[in-house]
Amino acid sequence: MGYASEISVANVAAKVNAVGQGHVLKFLPELSPGQQQAYLEQLAGLDWDLINKLVQSVVKHPEKFTISGDVKPAPFYENKPADAAKKQKLCDAFGRGEQLLREGKIAAFVVAGGQGTRLGWDGPKGTFPSTPIKKKPLFQCFAEYLLALGNRYGKPIAFYIMTSPQNDGPTREFWKKHQYFGMDPKNVMFFPQDQMPAIAFDGRVLLERKDSLALSPNGHGGSLLALWKSGAIADMKKRGITQISYFQVDNPIVRCIDPLFIGLHDMDGAQMSSKMLPKAYSKEKLGNFCIIDGKLTVIEYSDLPDELAEQRLPDGELRFRAGSIALHALKVEFVEQLNSKGFALPFHRAEKKIQCVDFETGQPLKIEKPNAVKLETFVFDALPLTGKSIIYETDRQDEFGPIKAMEGNDSVVTSEATTTTRNAAWLEAAGVKVPRKADGTPDCVIEIASSFALYPQDVVDKRVAEIKAGAHVYLE
Ligand code: UD1
Repeated sequence: MGYASEISVANVAAKVNAVGQGHVLKFLPELSPGQQQAYLEQLAGLDWDLINKLVQSVVKHPEKFTISGDVKPAPFYENKPADAAKKQKLCDAFGRGEQLLREGKIAAFVVAGGQGTRLGWDGPKGTFPSTPIKKKPLFQCFAEYLLALGNRYGKPIAFYIMTSPQNDGPTREFWKKHQYFGMDPKNVMFFPQDQMPAIAFDGRVLLERKDSLALSPNGHGGSLLALWKSGAIADMKKRGITQISYFQVDNPIVRCIDPLFIGLHDMDGAQMSSKMLPKAYSKEKLGNFCIIDGKLTVIEYSDLPDELAEQRLPDGELRFRAGSIALHALKVEFVEQLNSKGFALPFHRAEKKIQCVDFETGQPLKIEKPNAVKLETFVFDALPLTGKSIIYETDRQDEFGPIKAMEGNDSVVTSEATTTTRNAAWLEAAGVKVPRKADGTPDCVIEIASSFALYPQDVVDKRVAEIKAGAHVYLE
């Protein structure tokens, strides 16, 4: 007997009724047999006991975030230390990272399951045209980076892409249409994350249509489970991969794999590590790396009390200045251990406007203000579960140009400007004259393909002509 036919109305009804969610079956009799089957499968695939627990603890009676215990800023490795021994350690770490790449031990992993609602892009976010001149889709930037890195170290890099059930098909089609941007399809693996239903403030799960709940991806924390459930971890082990370089889909200049960072993480025997940026100001919208009662924890910017956020050191620097840019290194073994012994990340509450139908009539409602809670887990909540973790500082200009919106902060405009600023610095360091405006910003647009340079020092050996004011220069 097949899986689908084992799902009976009685079984599903027993589950949903037991947790007070019987309304989800109201329109079942109106559906065609095919719709009924698909809908019952959707319902049967959810963990109703967990949903019930979250309805009580996160939706109806949310606990206010409080910091209990001793909280300190988390220590980190500076990227430009004055001390010779520290400099040497970073050099050694870079060497270790290069060695791991030569041995094919590092996989790249992008979490691309988010809905990208702020960007308003009709399609998976990774398909967004992101570079200042060639308008390369984000996915192409990553593929080119990984190809160049693989060529340099003589071992192709395996790339794992987490999608969501909504964008999995379009993501795969996009890669296929673009011939995997030159990567070997055998080295590109897609897998979807799980979903969670949105929940009305009164505790009832929302219906998007008569034949579907209002589901959305379960947050990037879902990646730790999805890596395991999809067989990606097993695939990595088969390939001899021991480290995972985790990054977000929104940043065209991200170092998909940074040998220095992963090398440091590997040398220190860490299980899950992070990169940080010194925050530009106290309440910048970045998670804050803290130590609470001895455990490394990320406190979201909205949860960091003002009296901590504003604290300064004698030299005037923010005491809590390590901001998370959501770049991590994960030991394959760590993800495996979490899953084999069972783990649970906390669910966070986000109040959102969720499209849904009326519970009584099944007619679509016009939603004008937040009407429900979206439930998401965050990957950085796995940090307190580590025995050993390191944090490494990086420069904003070097690798943080996220595109989260069309305009304003973290937008297409700021990302393109960061890209040119970074590239201008690379060229100038190699002796190229870059025109600058009165305010010091480059008076030109520069795009550098990974095939041209992966690190600033790669530019030194190439000949780049002088750049004229207002020029658009693409280097590949
Ligand atoms: C995130 C971080 C923030 C960090 C910032 C850096 C959180 C809560 N905040 O903010 O600390 O400073 O990035 O840019 O993470 N994703 C999935 N599945 C999901 C949800 C998200 O794959 O279910 C992916 C997205 O595709 C994206 C990434 O996770 O690649 C970030 O998600 P997003 O919700 O955009 O987080 P931010 O608010 O940008």
